[in-house]
Amino acid sequence: MPIETRLRAVGGTVSHAAIDLGAEAVAVPVRKGPQAPATELAESLPFTLDELLTLHDAKGEPGEIVSAQVRVGDKVRELLLYGVGEAEPADLRKAGAALARRGRGRDALVAVVPRGDLAAFTEGALLASYTFKIGAPPGEKKKAVGTVAVLPEEGPDAAAPAIERGTVAARATALARDLANTPSREKDPSWLAGEAERIAAESGLAVRVRGEKELVEEGFGGLVAVGGGSSRPPRLIELSYDPRDAGASGEPERHVVLVGKGITFDSGGLSLKPNDNMKSMKTDMAGGATVIAVMAALRDLGVRARVTGLIAAAENMPSGSAMRPGDVIAHYGGTTSEVLNTDAEGRLVLADALAYARADLDPDVIVDVATLTGAAKVALGLRYGALFSNDDDLAAALTRAGTAAGEPVWRLPLVEDYREAIDSDVADINNTGRGGYGAGSITAALFLREFVGDRPWAHLDIAGPGRSTSDDAEITRGATGFGARLLLGWLAP
Ligand code: BES
Ligand code: MN
Ligand code: ZN
Repeated sequence: MPIETRLRAVGGTVSHAAIDLGAEAVAVPVRKGPQAPATELAESLPFTLDELLTLHDAKGEPGEIVSAQVRVGDKVRELLLYGVGEAEPADLRKAGAALARRGRGRDALVAVVPRGDLAAFTEGALLASYTFKIGAPPGEKKKAVGTVAVLPEEGPDAAAPAIERGTVAARATALARDLANTPSREKDPSWLAGEAERIAAESGLAVRVRGEKELVEEGFGGLVAVGGGSSRPPRLIELSYDPRDAGASGEPERHVVLVGKGITFDSGGLSLKPNDNMKSMKTDMAGGATVIAVMAALRDLGVRARVTGLIAAAENMPSGSAMRPGDVIAHYGGTTSEVLNTDAEGRLVLADALAYARADLDPDVIVDVATLTGAAKVALGLRYGALFSNDDDLAAALTRAGTAAGEPVWRLPLVEDYREAIDSDVADINNTGRGGYGAGSITAALFLREFVGDRPWAHLDIAGPGRSTSDDAEITRGATGFGARLLLGWLAP
């Protein structure tokens, strides 16, 4: 579901804006200290803002909100004193999210916003307003705030580009959340391909979808084997962005290939998951959703690189036609892998896509995104993604982009001593990592590395941060869209 909240910059005074828009609430920022702002709203209060902040023991921390009532024009409205800390990007993202949550059920909210990263404030406010519900009776839950009118300290015109950037990033993230939150009864590989085609048409991308017949003919053995257990066959989705089609002149800077894991449901296959682990597995295509969402936003952000997005989509199910433990698969390009556990299916479909990228697309850099291993979740928890790379500069750039976007990643090593864990007696490699090595996210990354050759490559394991069990600042419960803002920040600095 698209975000229903609208956010835009306005000028003039906060009182005028509130009266014009009929806003039920007005918000002013409080810096760390707390430092109360000078505002004309204080004139109609029977106490000072400092006194009010003292009463509530406020600190001006981001996320904190102190409320009172204030007369503006002929109406009493809610006054929200919202903490902005030092007004760093992370502070404003959190403050924007807190304000939007507080504004639920309101038609409009006017917020004075301090000088700083308005894109981050916008992301926070819009993403905290995201909802996903199928068939909920109207009015059951408080609706997201209708309009957030931002009164930027630097004026509405100077603020407009940042607000636009933040809006594009938030919309992309919401799209990724929508795709991943959709239940697998509806979402199968062909549904995902259809969504990709629809989105491609809307965002000026070329698209090619390979169906099962082509996948068999062209040797995409991993996709065919993983998808074989399902009555709903696999797809390889290829989206292409060329900046010259978006009006840019000259040669593109470089060719980036993004690869996403698109397992539309992961039952584990014959190595069946217990129900507790299975019930969240409609989001096992979150990496693919992130890639689709990033592709959709490239034109709006004026990205100068050529970008290809590959989504390896399959449903991992047990049946008489499913792959078995002990089977050997020939991947695109011929590398073979022995399936020791059918639940390690993500690397099998990614292997095909990575090998195809390397052999056919001549990429300057490859980045894959995948909910790949429970081990990454154990290592880094629900808020940090695991990053692996064969290139220090690429790793550093992605780490920086993640921090700036509020989607942090932590680099883990590709330990050479663990490479023998994926040796196989009967194939080139095995898909599970032999016992005695541990480090399941590292052995999975080592498996993927076999398919990228010497191309600069990074792998983001988002099994932890790809979904959230609770609302938290701009994050909403369920799929988070993790990675979309990181990648957009990296591609469009
Ligand atoms: N999709 C799962 C990984 C996962 C687990 C994502 C939890 C999100 C939350 C993946 O396909 C998987 O099942 N991995 C196995 C690999 C093992 C069999 C080698 C795992 O992590 O247990
Ligand atoms: Mn699995
Ligand atoms: Zn999986």
